Amino acid sequence: MARSKVRVPDLLARKAQGPKIVAVTAYDATFARLLNAAEVDILLVGDSLGMVFQGHSTTLPVTLEEVGYHARAVARSEPSAHVVGDLPFLSYQTSVADALRSAGYLLKEGGCESVKLEGGQAVAEQVRALVSAGIPVMGHVGLTPQSVHRLGGFRVQGREPGDAETMVRDARALEAAGAYAIVLESIPAELARTITEQLKIPTIGIGAGPHCDGQVLVCYDLLGLEDRVRPKFVKRYSELGQQVVSATRAFVSEVQDGKFPGPEHSYGNDGAMRHEMATLPEISSSRNSIPSPH
Ligand code: KIV
Repeated sequence: MARSKVRVPDLLARKAQGPKIVAVTAYDATFARLLNAAEVDILLVGDSLGMVFQGHSTTLPVTLEEVGYHARAVARSEPSAHVVGDLPFLSYQTSVADALRSAGYLLKEGGCESVKLEGGQAVAEQVRALVSAGIPVMGHVGLTPQSVHRLGGFRVQGREPGDAETMVRDARALEAAGAYAIVLESIPAELARTITEQLKIPTIGIGAGPHCDGQVLVCYDLLGLEDRVRPKFVKRYSELGQQVVSATRAFVSEVQDGKFPGPEHSYGNDGAMRHEMATLPEISSSRNSIPSPH
């Protein structure tokens, strides 16, 4: 039986009732269909796309239109998972009006069902305005990649004296402003435990230990497609990158050896051609079907 749509109230209820929330990033329709078939709760169209998809060294160059483009592709796959769109750098920090325009764009044009933004007390006003306008907001504190230059790199946060208290205040400010969940990125596990215990809304950790109400990973990391960096917090559940290389190597050698295409991948005479044409609609619809996990 098809899973029912995951909505914000369902995610909120998971804090008390479990099970833990599982979020994965997605940037295109094919991955969105596959990840949704694995029954993740949230597909996050993260601005991490700037690094893993576009090849930048930070998320800063990503534009609102680019997030919108990828979000449309993800939403077009009609996932039962909740679709979150990341508000990119300077699309919301600048003013409440910018935040409303940008988040509204991701819901109206991108097919997102909520938005994520980085920061704590500094963006609480924006969060309040978005929630008042009916836009659910996921917060993000700890290592906030859009502040990479101020933070001095992609490094663990909350270890310096005073930082932990500030982070707890940031998380509480987001909750008070109406955020429905908060991503905790790259912070000590005990600090994540404290924040999780103090909040009524769920926390979703990435590099924040086991005590959060959920976990999120970048899909290229968890599937073993990203080969340039390997943060400590990433567990690779597959080595798809290696499989891509060896499958493509096999294609290269079969083409060069004249083994591909064989008769089974070649069209026959006129009669066979008519038969192929008659079955085309089935061929194209089978492209869209994913084996059920059950
Ligand atoms: O952009 C992103 O993918 C994110 C997650 C890593 C939480 O913010």
